[in-house]
Amino acid sequence: MRVLVLGSGGREHALVRSLAQGGDVTQLHAAPGNPGIGELADLHDLGATDAAAVTALARKVAADLVVIGPEAPLVAGVADALRDSGVTCFGPSQRAAMIEGSKSFAKQVMTAAGVPTAAALTCRTEPEAAAALARFGSPYVVKADGLAAGKGVVVTTDRAEALRHARACGTVVIEEFLDGPEVSVFALADGTTATTLLPAQDYKRAGDGDTGPNTGGMGAYAPLPWAPADLADQTLAEVVLPTLAELARIGTPYSGLLYAGLCLTSRGLRVVEFNARFGDPETQVVLDRLGTPLAGLLTACATGDLASAPPPRWLPGAAVTVVIAAEGYPADPVRGAAIDGLPEAERVPGAYVLQAGTARAGPELIAAGGRVLNVVGAGDDLAAARARAYEAAALITMRGGWYRTDIAADPAPGTGPGA
Ligand code: AMP
Ligand code: GLY
Repeated sequence: MRVLVLGSGGREHALVRSLAQGGDVTQLHAAPGNPGIGELADLHDLGATDAAAVTALARKVAADLVVIGPEAPLVAGVADALRDSGVTCFGPSQRAAMIEGSKSFAKQVMTAAGVPTAAALTCRTEPEAAAALARFGSPYVVKADGLAAGKGVVVTTDRAEALRHARACGTVVIEEFLDGPEVSVFALADGTTATTLLPAQDYKRAGDGDTGPNTGGMGAYAPLPWAPADLADQTLAEVVLPTLAELARIGTPYSGLLYAGLCLTSRGLRVVEFNARFGDPETQVVLDRLGTPLAGLLTACATGDLASAPPPRWLPGAAVTVVIAAEGYPADPVRGAAIDGLPEAERVPGAYVLQAGTARAGPELIAAGGRVLNVVGAGDDLAAARARAYEAAALITMRGGWYRTDIAADPAPGTGPGA
């Protein structure tokens, strides 16, 4: 089959790599992709949010399946346009993607579905925000209602800062603070039914020890040796299936990947957020452990036929990914630094490098984004996977490039960003 993947980051490189490895994929295309993806797929230079251009490309390459990586094309309605023109597409409709695109819509769905989440109030004015802050108390959690690329949430003990964020955002969701480790559980959904993938954990803060500013994610590992053995099943039963049922009931059936960001609190599991797409960088480690051909699973979701697909199998062992970021990330990443040492890094057994923010400048590979590379290490256990990822990362040179040194160093319940 011919598959077209939309997007250009490390998550898309992981998707393309996984698609290339198993099943009956005969041709891979990516738009716009990156140089790493270009080693596995034909690249097409177009904006992934341009529904007309994407549909025309899907037709031109006779794609049997289009896989949408990032949230922007989903929220722009690219999945709807593809399906309307008869193209099989993995990814939710524009309306269903509002589960990520609007925090207040997500809260409404969870409340109606009885899904456990932080108590919250949607506030449109400053007096409303002030009242909500008083009601929930410190630490304050203030979230912009729309998509904000990881910058929309402020968690603070400073009431004035919380109010400033509310004022700057307009409509906000203010909610109770959740304490406990955060985990990411992905579910593949076909509109009616779903299956969960291996739980993973990512590291959102820039600095070691969960210090410094929030980022898109500096590393991840899977599986979670410390988590309850039934975490994925519990998430399916208490979170994913009720959410799908409610979305179907209100006329927005959800097909694609439903990402449940969970907090394991002392009072039980709570949803922190939903995303409408694979998480980045968790996908890089989850797909590393997948033992079932990805193309078959994604096609089953896209065609509403997940019930008859075999459930995903998981390879034993563990995977760790370490993000190499550009100088100045996340505030102001410096572009253009030359990247060297990839062949050496990939000679480390069990290690490989996914490209996230890279470009070609003549013969050179250069940094072209904030998160530049994802070094993945796999092994019999987390310690082995981690050692390989860091051994490979140390062989890569990029002026000003940096990474956290504590990814999966202490994989225990205390390590979550919310802990
Ligand atoms: P979100 O965009 O909703 O995932 O929020 C970004 C990050 O803010 C989360 O990953 C958490 O680390 C933190 N956060 C969000 N909501 C809460 C909450 N209710 N309590 C504590 N931390 C939170
Ligand atoms: N890893 C966090 C995200 O993808 O939103």
